[in-house]
Parts: sequence; structure tokens; C-alpha cells
Amino acid sequence: MTRKYLIAGNWKLNAGGPNGVELAGAVAQATREVAPNVELVVAPPFTALAAVAHELEEKRVEVAGQNLYPKDSGAFTGEISAPMLLEAGCRWVILGHSERRQLFGETDALVHDKVAAAMRAGLCPIACIGETLEEREANRTLEVVFRQLDAFSAELNKRPGYGVIAYEPVWAIGTGKVATPEQAQEVHAAIRKRLNDLNPTLAQGTRILYGGSVKADNASVLLACPDIDGALVGGASLDAEGFAKIAKAAPR
Ligand code: PGA
Repeated sequence: MTRKYLIAGNWKLNAGGPNGVELAGAVAQATREVAPNVELVVAPPFTALAAVAHELEEKRVEVAGQNLYPKDSGAFTGEISAPMLLEAGCRWVILGHSERRQLFGETDALVHDKVAAAMRAGLCPIACIGETLEEREANRTLEVVFRQLDAFSAELNKRPGYGVIAYEPVWAIGTGKVATPEQAQEVHAAIRKRLNDLNPTLAQGTRILYGGSVKADNASVLLACPDIDGALVGGASLDAEGFAKIAKAAPR
């Protein structure tokens, strides 16, 4: 099974409102020549979602939420549901990002519920996993990554190949310290093997993105690795040209 590459831009708490619309337009323009075997996604803040989705109508760049709450509606002040994201024009949602886990106390169980809610609603989850520097130095990388993965992999297996996993070593996010291609490939291969133990079709069909200080100048060596199917890009996704260069670095 051939997997298309997926390059997703996580705008985090940046580019809301008119700035987001402008950035989305620039991304659509800059990525026009990206090869057809690459899918493109941007994840603006909630307040910009509908306007960005409108700006990207008829364009190949799709829209993601950065989070959701597992309930569809009700007394959950401050939260956004999967159906609301769909209504705003999203087809994707980033879940369990390390900033959510570290700053907002998201547990494996909550990330499971979020992945389940996304799958149920027909929103494609990009579920994030990754170890901290302390965990890597204690040789606990795979233990941590497998624990996070096992929390939701059965949900992904309900529709093999639909959900996406992002491996983002926490020590590489926003630090400029990118994992070497060897370090990344090693973990990606281990994740795929873990999926294979559950269901070989799931393992073959699931895109596993790398995230953590991906830039135009390191994207090609990462994307050339056999088990790296794309990138979840933070800082560099706020520059349309830089984001397009990353997308163009995917092997054809
Ligand atoms: P970064 O962020 O590219 O700025 O390191 C990646 C992410 O948090 O998804």
C-alpha cells in the first residue's frame, strides 16, 4: 500500500483572525507546485478556522483543529467538539500534542477519548506521541511512546489507514534540536512494528509523521526515511514559503 505524504502546519497560538486568512492564502499560493503525492494541512487557532476554511475552498490545503473535547455538546465551558470542527470546515484534528499533555494535563485516557470522538465524527485525527529528554536519557523512549500509542491504537484500527500518528520527541519541539534521521527512523520503525502486531493492514496504511524543529533545510533527509510519511511543522509553518519548501522536500 502506498502512503501519500502529509505535511501539516501547526500554527499553535499564532495567526488568528485576518493574519491567519492572509497566511492561509499565502500557503495555498506557495504550495501550488507541490507534488500530487503530498497532502497539505494547516491548523489555525479556533477563532480563525471558519475564515481560513473559507479562504482555502477549492484549494488543495485542508484545515485542522488543534484540539477537541470528546463530548459533542453540553455544559463544557470553553471546549469545542468534533461536530463543531467539522462545521467550521475542518477535516482533520491534532490530538494529544505534547504541549496539551504537559501544560494542560492531558492524560493517555483523555487522548484516547479524543481520538475516539474524532473517528466517530469522521474527523481525521493526527495523534501525537513522544518522549521527553529525561525519558530518552533514561532509555525509556519506546516504553513511553508505546504506552501513549497503545492508549488509542485500537481506535485507529477501527478504520485502518484513516488516522495519522505524529512522533514528536518533546526535546525537539521548538528547540531547534531536530532528531537525526537515524533517531527518528528508529522510533518510526518501532511504532510501525507495534501497529503491525495489532494489524498488518493498520501498520501499512497509517501515516507516521515526524515533528520537532522540522525546517526547509532538514526536511529532505527526514522525509527520505522509509517510515517517515510526513511532518508536523510548528514554527516553520508560519512562513508560507518555508512550509512549501518542506512539502517540496518529500520524495516523489
Ligand atoms: P516546531 O513544533 O516545529 O516548532 O518544533 C512542532 C510541533 O509542536 O508540532
